Amino acid sequence: MEDGVSILSNVVVSQIDIFAEYGGVIPEVAARSHLEAMMPVVNKALSDADCTWEDIDAIAVTYAPGLLGSLLVGTLTARTLAILHNKPLYAVHHLKSHVYANWIEGGAHIQSRAASPRPVATGEARLSSPCQAPDSLDLDMSHRPSFPLLALVVSGGHTQILYMPRHNQFEIIGTTHDDAVGECFDKVAKILGLPYPGGPSIAKAAEKGDASKYKLPHPKVEGLDFSFSGLKTAVLRAVQKELGLPISHPSHDLKNHLSRQQVADFAASFQKTAVDILVEKISMALEQYPDVQSVVVAGGVSANKALREALPEAYFPDTSLSGDNGAMVAAAAYYEIQSGVKPVDPYKFNIYPRISIET
Ligand code: KG4
Ligand code: ZN
Repeated sequence: MEDGVSILSNVVVSQIDIFAEYGGVIPEVAARSHLEAMMPVVNKALSDADCTWEDIDAIAVTYAPGLLGSLLVGTLTARTLAILHNKPLYAVHHLKSHVYANWIEGGAHIQSRAASPRPVATGEARLSSPCQAPDSLDLDMSHRPSFPLLALVVSGGHTQILYMPRHNQFEIIGTTHDDAVGECFDKVAKILGLPYPGGPSIAKAAEKGDASKYKLPHPKVEGLDFSFSGLKTAVLRAVQKELGLPISHPSHDLKNHLSRQQVADFAASFQKTAVDILVEKISMALEQYPDVQSVVVAGGVSANKALREALPEAYFPDTSLSGDNGAMVAAAAYYEIQSGVKPVDPYKFNIYPRISIET
């Protein structure tokens, strides 16, 4: 990553194929597969960028929040590399990284996904030999989000509205009381018998569905907060009702009774309700914060086409950068450095599986 906006290389190893088999993430398996992938990914990122360690100014790593084992593997690798190559090390909050994906130019083209621990997917280098030509970047920064701004963070683990008065300052003004919206997509997909991860499979099934077929309630949550567990239960009850089955009927069996059209209609109706809820809360937030100049959307669910269409004025990352990736971590670190944040001590810094972005 160069100057926080320009991708030199972005190598992404996806574990989707592994977890599709289980229908969800198994933390121990995730950590082990991180471990196997780690050094091949680092080496490929350097070679894709045509860089050596001498060209690298700093290392950035995610220290929070997330799965303990995966955070440990990442931070221990980064700490070791920082010591070995004598580079400053920056510890970045995961949600901050998602937000900063909105400042990255263009985005990387993800070529393929596989369960293999080898680095199977890679971003394209923007320059043929970027490490030799740092001055030749000609970036148009005029279309960058301006402050103060609202960030709608929608991932598998979080749903939050953040107020950002300036770079690297975050105030949580809305958050979910229970499930995250991505988690809700994943759980509803399971009920409908759609493959993991649920977000993309719901979006695909919804293309052939009627979004007005099933009326699903909006949860009654005060202010700018969210609740998505009720929406998942509402889908469950609506499916049982549609099939004429009692509420005691096991949710894992419902998929065996649904027709393809019913699945599409439920997917479309659910997606529309989830998007409507997000848009409603962002509109409320804009009314409460009239000084806001732009809205950025961040996290895995920001790939959702219906959400993009519902918020035409908002900034979205390139779809190749909406899910987890290394470039966004480097981008966030760049803006931290610009804001005066100091590097951490590679000999002693901790991971925090549950810490807030405000800390
Ligand atoms: O940010 P992310 O890649 O990982 C976390 O930090 O959690 O987000 C993953 C979440 C999953 O719940 C996934 O189903 C959802 O993002 N997601 C989508 C779409 N693509 C991924 N949700 C809705 N529509 C999509 N196109
Ligand atoms: Zn994420």
